[in-house]
Amino acid sequence: MSVLVTGGAGFIGSHTCVELLNAGEDIVILDNFSNSKPDVLDKIRTITGKDFKFYEVDLLDKDNVEKVFKENDIDTVIHFAGFKAVGESVEKPLMYYHNNITGTLILCEVMKAYGCKRIVFSSSATVYGSPKTVPIKEDFPLSTTNPYGTTKLMLERILSDLCVPDKDFCVTLLRYFNPIGAHESGLIGENPNGIPNNLMPYICQVAIRKLDCLNVFGNDYPTHDGTGVRDYIHVVDLAKGHLKALFNARKTTGVSVFNLGTGNGYSVLDIVKAFESANNIKIPYVIAPRRAGDIAECYADPTKAREVLGWKAEFDIERMCKDSWNYISKNN
Ligand code: UD1
Repeated sequence: MSVLVTGGAGFIGSHTCVELLNAGEDIVILDNFSNSKPDVLDKIRTITGKDFKFYEVDLLDKDNVEKVFKENDIDTVIHFAGFKAVGESVEKPLMYYHNNITGTLILCEVMKAYGCKRIVFSSSATVYGSPKTVPIKEDFPLSTTNPYGTTKLMLERILSDLCVPDKDFCVTLLRYFNPIGAHESGLIGENPNGIPNNLMPYICQVAIRKLDCLNVFGNDYPTHDGTGVRDYIHVVDLAKGHLKALFNARKTTGVSVFNLGTGNGYSVLDIVKAFESANNIKIPYVIAPRRAGDIAECYADPTKAREVLGWKAEFDIERMCKDSWNYISKNN
């Protein structure tokens, strides 16, 4: 029996593959390298000392997705593959809906044809829209503000619907907060092409002096210092959450939903200070206007994941900043 990891060469996917292999799981990775590089695969092998099968396949290519299921005994899919840039999704909604929704529909059709009844899905805290209160619990109302977020919410619903006619089907929806950090080896991490949209990759570009200074998007939010508050989580903690979710999925059916966050909120300026003191590097910044679509505060209530999965984030913000920098300083 193998676990198929779609998008296994990506940021969260690659770290999850490391945890799965370290736990002795057999995995098969599928990726089309649309936002990752082939050398990640050898780095996963180096870190773990383990091997796995890899298929360079696009989920929109049904024949080749079928080939993966034909050639392997897949009992669970951990599904990361998808486009994830918020701004780009606003510019190119059709591309996002086609890739993320159609790709997942094809995956599910093939799963059904091959009797694979378990999927762990990479969702996002973006499905909570603008929450009325924090911390956010899994039963809060859901809404979205951009096509990327809408694909996540639509896929949550589509996957949940599959459990209605098939009582053996098992769907686990994992809602991530803000993943940062990197594997301690410095071999795998996040290094987006072009100018980064997200905070930590941007800070890292300023730290290597590729960018002059950070724009802090707004300092007039109702938060402790006026800047936006988020729940930053170490990607290795997040990866370990997938392993726990997999173990839980093996003994359940139907839909389960979990927030994967730390439960702690840090502002943009908290992160700047934490990065500076963890790495002894100055990060120049200026206060800029608010970014459209941003909310003041977003952090998880992670109680359910702790109680049901036995999972809790372990790494603190200093470690997240150190590991992000360790990776970028070795890979730029
Ligand atoms: C963003 C996405 C979210 C996605 C997540 C993936 C938006 C509106 N939301 O979340 O849907 O799931 O990434 O990780 O894009 N900031 C700055 N300067 C910067 C960059 C960010 O001040 O150059 C601030 C933002 O205003 C925010 C915080 O840093 O307060 C975090 O931003 P970011 O890393 O982009 O994550 P989110 O917006 O929370």
